[in-house]
Amino acid sequence: MAGFIPDRVLEEIRFRNDIVEVIQGYLPLKRTGATYKACCPFHREKTPSFNVNPNMQIFKCFGCGEGGDVISFVMKHQGLDFMAAVRLLADRAGMAIETEDDGGQADHRRKLFAIHEGIAGFYRRCLQHYAGGAAARAYLAERELDGDVAAAFHIGYAPAGWDRALRWAEKHGYSADEMVEAGLVLHHREKDRYYDRFRDRLMFPVRDVQGRVVGFSGRYLQQGSDQPKYVNSPETALFNKSRILFGLDLARQTILREEGREAIIVEGQVDVIRCHQQGFSAAVAAQGTAFTDQHVTLLKRYADSAVLVYDADGAGQAAALKTAQALMRSGMIVRVAVLPEGEDPDSFLAGEGPEAFAVLLEGAVSTVAFQVTAMRASTHDGAGIAETTRAAKAVLETIACTPNAVQRDYLLREAADLLGLTVSALEADLEKAEQVHQHSPIRHAVQPTHDSQDAATFVSTDAKREDAPHKTVGIPAAERHLLQGLVHGDEAAWNLVSSHLVPSVFVHPVCRSLYILFRLAAEQGTDVDAVDADALQEDLYEQATRLLERLRRTPCIATGDLFEKFLQDAILRIWKQHFLLELQQLRDGDTSGDQAFVRENEIRHYLSYLKHWDTGQDVIATEMGVMGGSAGEAF
Ligand code: UTP
Ligand code: MN
Repeated sequence: MAGFIPDRVLEEIRFRNDIVEVIQGYLPLKRTGATYKACCPFHREKTPSFNVNPNMQIFKCFGCGEGGDVISFVMKHQGLDFMAAVRLLADRAGMAIETEDDGGQADHRRKLFAIHEGIAGFYRRCLQHYAGGAAARAYLAERELDGDVAAAFHIGYAPAGWDRALRWAEKHGYSADEMVEAGLVLHHREKDRYYDRFRDRLMFPVRDVQGRVVGFSGRYLQQGSDQPKYVNSPETALFNKSRILFGLDLARQTILREEGREAIIVEGQVDVIRCHQQGFSAAVAAQGTAFTDQHVTLLKRYADSAVLVYDADGAGQAAALKTAQALMRSGMIVRVAVLPEGEDPDSFLAGEGPEAFAVLLEGAVSTVAFQVTAMRASTHDGAGIAETTRAAKAVLETIACTPNAVQRDYLLREAADLLGLTVSALEADLEKAEQVHQHSPIRHAVQPTHDSQDAATFVSTDAKREDAPHKTVGIPAAERHLLQGLVHGDEAAWNLVSSHLVPSVFVHPVCRSLYILFRLAAEQGTDVDAVDADALQEDLYEQATRLLERLRRTPCIATGDLFEKFLQDAILRIWKQHFLLELQQLRDGDTSGDQAFVRENEIRHYLSYLKHWDTGQDVIATEMGVMGGSAGEAF
């Protein structure tokens, strides 16, 4: 064979062989920011100067100067010529390029990939054009899951009938047994009959991180009598559900690009699809199964942190806690956003819109705060000694999950604050919890058997939920941080904050009240504790002073040089939250068209400015001017 391969085939090979994935197969890569590093395999060195850039899909060694794309890496590293490297990568991606000498294995996988890709196209066409797909089309249109997003996720429809996939296979030269191996067809041994696994279902292709279809999840269209809601591909040579994250092929670029490298983790495929549709393209799901260590490893290649958005029911919250702990064990920073009862991310986004979802994400709290809230919600007397001890124990098990010292310290302080305990008491107990950790041969065995039960009972949907004393736990992190800064800061801190925030920007009523107390104190030239606060509602005044006490007991997480930046960051985030809420109100409200449109645009502009203090200050000054940010502003 002459060594000629068309450019589009080479492109396809590069596209399907993510350079990070490939190189990681040969050497351990460590991610630093948006790129990956390793000790260069092409020259001797002790400090890593070999860089891999996933966005540009290239590698470069700043020590010896070697560099190139995924193909040249394989050539150099494996000592192959161009054709051999191309063949190797084509095989790896399951692409059909003639090669003389692959083992049966590669052939087999390639065939399975081809079957999946082919039948995904068939299902897609059935959805778009087949008369029997009308109900599926109508269903998608009604749920507003059609159009671009259906194309991006390649949503399809498996026709009713027992042998449609079989007939498709026959036409394309695949045997019934091959279809069984692909998980698309079932074999009834006694009757020796073959029949389709997916019948009359909406089909969501499941893709690996390189975008290749490896399985399917099929949803019924109407609630059937004894039908399961979803039928999924079984484990096959291609599909291992504990190694696949739905949506990651699309989400990984977004995650890598964004500053905090934060993935959004949801439970179901539809949730992922809706998130992407509404602009939250960092969303992935483990498809209704627990998050495994392999999921964590996979995600960690792209993300430093994650925000979990699980259903508000007991099962969803228990799953969120387990997932959070698994992610924390890998050193990731985890936040949890709590949806209103009865909602999932899809229904929330469809009903409330993207701004509301952004507010929800912004308000996500640490795993510890989440856990305490959930426990309080499910117990009658959240403040009793027995309950507090129980809560402390559970929370310490969570804190012990993270190997990251800074995160641990932060969580300890937060836990102490939330539970009304001293940090030192908790610290002493944490040491005990950690010893259990170290002595256990498998880290997971740490969670005592009663743990899952605890989680379930703690977060059960208790009727008492409404009256549970957990209101102040739902404080947005930015507001809490800011007030913590004020409590522990000096005059300079007050000057910075007071010239950049007015009370009405605060979302949480208790936080707003406490800020008003600070302002009154400044006006009256007294201490916060001695303020004449007649203007405040009595219960708010009480809650604000209680919050003040708690904040005093918790040291501020930033000190020294970082302190000012910390306050600036909190100020920016509070404004961001404020604008997101306003956007949402604009969408929901009946402000007349033009005006709302202009303001929406302005806010979108503002939001991008608010990313940095330098530019954010201007936005804040403008808005404060409009609001008449004088100290006498109405409370
Ligand atoms: P849900 O029941 O929450 O479904 O299951 P959903 O994603 O909200 O779907 P819609 O909105 O009703 O269309 C969450 C996930 O659990 C898995 C699927 O991965 C699903 O996305 N699941 C659920 C199954 O695998 N099998 C089932 O029978 C049900
Ligand atoms: Mn749903």
